[in-house]
Amino acid sequence: MDDMQLVNAALNAMQYSYSPYSKFKVGAAILTDCGKIYTGCNVENASYGAAICAERCAAVKAISDGCTKFSKIAIISSSNTYTYPCGICRQFLSEFFLKEGIVCLYDQNNGIKTIPFWDLIPNAFTGECIE
Ligand code: THU
Repeated sequence: MDDMQLVNAALNAMQYSYSPYSKFKVGAAILTDCGKIYTGCNVENASYGAAICAERCAAVKAISDGCTKFSKIAIISSSNTYTYPCGICRQFLSEFFLKEGIVCLYDQNNGIKTIPFWDLIPNAFTGECIE
C-alpha cells in the first residue's frame, strides 16, 4: 500500500466533511492489518462539543466492521499546513494502533510527512493498575 494511495483516500473522504461551524475540513484514512482502508471526515454539530474528528470517524467505522488493528493513518485538512491528530484522537487511536504504526500527514505545499504513531503519544493511558 503506497502512502499516496492512503492520502488520496483521505482526500476523497474530506469532501464529505460536515463542518459548517469551523469551516475546517478534515479527512482521514486508516489502513488495517488485514489490508482494508476505512475513511472518515469530521462531523460537527450545533452543540459544538459534540463534534467528531475525522480520525475517530474512520476508526469507529473500522472497529465496528471487526477490524481493530491499525497499521497506518493518513490525515489531511483544508488548511495549508500539516494537521496533526488532536489529543483525544491520539488517545482513542492508541488502543488500536500496532507497535510499528505510522501517521501519514499531507499538505499540498510540503507533500507527505510520516511519523511513528507512538512518537505522538508515548505514554498513552491504558487503564492498567498495580494490584
Ligand atoms: N478536527 C479533526 O477532525 N481532527 C483533528 O485531529 C483536529 C480537529 C476537526 C474537529 C472540528 O470539526 C474541526 O476540525 C475544527 O477543530
